[in-house]
Amino acid sequence: MSAAPHPLRGPIAAASILSADFTRLGEELEVIDPARDWVHCDIMDFRFVPNLTFGPLVVAAARRVTPAFLDVHLMVEHPEAMLHAFREAGADQMTVHLEACASPGGALAAVRATGARAGLALRPATPFDAVAAWLDAIDVLLVMTVEPGFGGQKFMPAMLDKVVAARAARAAGRGTFLISVDGGIGPGTAHLAREAGADAFVSGNSVFGQPDPGQALSALRREIAE
Ligand code: DX5
Ligand code: ZN
Repeated sequence: MSAAPHPLRGPIAAASILSADFTRLGEELEVIDPARDWVHCDIMDFRFVPNLTFGPLVVAAARRVTPAFLDVHLMVEHPEAMLHAFREAGADQMTVHLEACASPGGALAAVRATGARAGLALRPATPFDAVAAWLDAIDVLLVMTVEPGFGGQKFMPAMLDKVVAARAARAAGRGTFLISVDGGIGPGTAHLAREAGADAFVSGNSVFGQPDPGQALSALRREIAE
């Protein structure tokens, strides 16, 4: 599939298919503009989080219908074991949870070895300082703004302190990573995350949970525009 260059600078709207209608995933993904948006894929294993979603088969299905950047969020234990399969399916970026990795450095190196961009995610209870050692090794820091596991939850504004800290660390030369926020992002919250310094804005319910996802995605793009 011919590809426009993927957006790798913010602000980027990352629409999460967790809230999409999987009986018509192809149509749902028509609202994505591959030149400016990401498609966010939430992988849950019923161990790291109390929910189970989908695997490489669905990521590969998304890959077949859109050339957009596929941002795969691995809410799983032992993510290292799955990296190859998700990369083969078409993942452009794979984000592992700091809390799920015995060796975060090893997991990030394993992501990079597949050729994908590498991310680290933080649950709400994990402080920003916990990622300090890996800031140079990541392409994206994903700050969870809800407890991971489910779409449609309420945004936690206190998490924006981590976005501010990450922005300051980057400005001080500690890495070149993008800062992504995930959970409860939509009208009224996206601009708060933008003001705090986020670059990528994951949104599920506020895009695919709406009657007109195309219009909802346009509204999100406007709210995060510089
Ligand atoms: C939650 C997932 C999110 C989810 C966000 O664990 O990581 O990516 O899709 O959904 P909303 O935007 O509905 O909070
Ligand atoms: Zn996610």
